[in-house]
Amino acid sequence: MKPEHYQDFREFLERACGIVLGENKQYLVASRLAPVMLEHGFHDLGELVAQLDRFGGGNLRAQVIEAMTTNETQFFRDNYPYAILKEYVFPELQKRRVYNARVWSAGCSSGQEAYSISMSLQEYNEQGGRLDGEVLGTDISPQIVEQASLGRYNSSAITRGLTDERRVRFFRELDPQTWEVRPEIKRRASFRTHNLLESFAVLGRFDVYLCRTC
Ligand SMILES: C[S@@+](CC[C@H](N)C(=O)[O-])C[C@H]1O[C@@H](n2cnc3c(N)ncnc32)[C@H](O)[C@@H]1O
Repeated sequence: MKPEHYQDFREFLERACGIVLGENKQYLVASRLAPVMLEHGFHDLGELVAQLDRFGGGNLRAQVIEAMTTNETQFFRDNYPYAILKEYVFPELQKRRVYNARVWSAGCSSGQEAYSISMSLQEYNEQGGRLDGEVLGTDISPQIVEQASLGRYNSSAITRGLTDERRVRFFRELDPQTWEVRPEIKRRASFRTHNLLESFAVLGRFDVYLCRTC
């Protein structure tokens, strides 16, 4: 990989979605882009970068961004953001008479974060709180947004981050491989494609947002 092609690619990626690649991530770029290079018949990164800059390269741009983003997530990832929501943020919103909180899960991946927020709200209310809300999940990847909207998870995703109690309460088993978020959790969540480098104005105002893109 020629250094100037790698440099051009780094600049493209930062401009397109804000991802800043380190100086020595050539191996990552090569492995993530291998299927795209093969599909389009590019011989080196220089050919791909040249095509990205051409008019009509939109589909290729989307494919490249898709390949370079990391969708790693899990339910209640790191736990503490959800504990803080229940202990401090939800009570504060209730105190301020916000009865329908708008929460933004920015960079939501396949929806686990947005649904975990909705589950936290459900638990808050079951413990005596009085606060309803809606959670908007957004992500740059249309494919992952579609997945999030479905609210269906395989048996591996369902074991990550969830206690047995939460799994049984908030999901129903469709078949041994597939679990679906229950309607009372799903009703609060909606999803749409959005690049964080673009204006947020179209999304409306929010009372709370979580933005954890790595
Ligand atoms: C590591 S995942 C984290 C998911 C979730 N926030 C969590 O904490 O579990 C990061 C997500 O951010 C998204 N992302 C990265 N850059 C983005 C951008 N510029 N605009 C919107 N989403 C972006 C990726 O597509 C990916 O799904």
